[in-house]
Amino acid sequence: MTGTSTPEGANAAQIAYWNDRAAVTWTTMQERLDALFAPITAVALQAAAPTPGEHVIDVGCGCGGTLIELARLVGPNGRAIGLDVSGPMSARARERLAQAGLTNAQVITGDASAHGLPAGQTDLLFSRFGVMFFDDPVAAFTSLRKPLRPGGRLLCAVWRPFADNPWFRVPMEAARPLIPPQPPVDPHAPGPFAFADGDRTLGILTSAGWQGAALVRHDVPMRIAAAGAVEEATDFALTMGPLGRLLREMPADAAVPVREAVRQALQPYDSPDGIILTGSIWLVSARA
Ligand SMILES: C[S@@+](CC[C@H](N)C(=O)[O-])C[C@H]1O[C@@H](n2cnc3c(N)ncnc32)[C@H](O)[C@@H]1O
Repeated sequence: MTGTSTPEGANAAQIAYWNDRAAVTWTTMQERLDALFAPITAVALQAAAPTPGEHVIDVGCGCGGTLIELARLVGPNGRAIGLDVSGPMSARARERLAQAGLTNAQVITGDASAHGLPAGQTDLLFSRFGVMFFDDPVAAFTSLRKPLRPGGRLLCAVWRPFADNPWFRVPMEAARPLIPPQPPVDPHAPGPFAFADGDRTLGILTSAGWQGAALVRHDVPMRIAAAGAVEEATDFALTMGPLGRLLREMPADAAVPVREAVRQALQPYDSPDGIILTGSIWLVSARA
């Protein structure tokens, strides 16, 4: 696997997205996002239970937050490989591995569904929010099963439905009356909520040849800013994801009331522990 394109344009729209605007946002906000996702990283790594000497793959490793953790947990006799289609984000991950002095990990830039890794050598396929972006998820998960040894395990964190994720939903609902009407979204299209439908997710893995696929729901606190920092929380909500994209496309004067509506919607979540909204995920597990 070399470069960031695959034959016949598979995953082309997401490859473009993660090499353009999203790469700027995610590399700029990398420390903040790793802190925000810390409760999710903790439950996902506990469930994945990597042990010294294991070989692991981190799918869609982004700027390397979980890859670094995995490399530490498998230790010098283990190996961690990150796969990511974003050139800028995988470059950041490599820098961070070097800074951490981790020589048992590497990042391969390219489409994870066309990885070309050797068969049967990996103990654990892990991902924190890196598997929901494939045009053909059954084909991708069939391909991603191949590097696993028989009985090797899969553990992925994916978002549960939008309605159960106030940290996404509250700002979006506040903004909705003030933004142009949006076309209906295909709930299964590549994107953050593509694996939210649990039955469909289990079906994808089973069709891709994984055994014993299972889901566990976790609701976690997402601390989007410090106590009292409502302006900062508003900036964050207006930078990330679909709302950020919409705002960047709106004239500056039209964005002012959107910002005020989002600020007012976030205000009630201010507490002595920070501005905290719930995030809801599935931990998806299976065996090769
Ligand atoms: C939501 S970000 C998560 C990044 C990282 N796992 C984290 O938790 O910070 C999704 C990541 O998946 C990567 N990605 C999307 N489609 C991919 C593909 N087909 N192959 C490999 N990586 C992909 C993106 O480049 C991005 O880094």
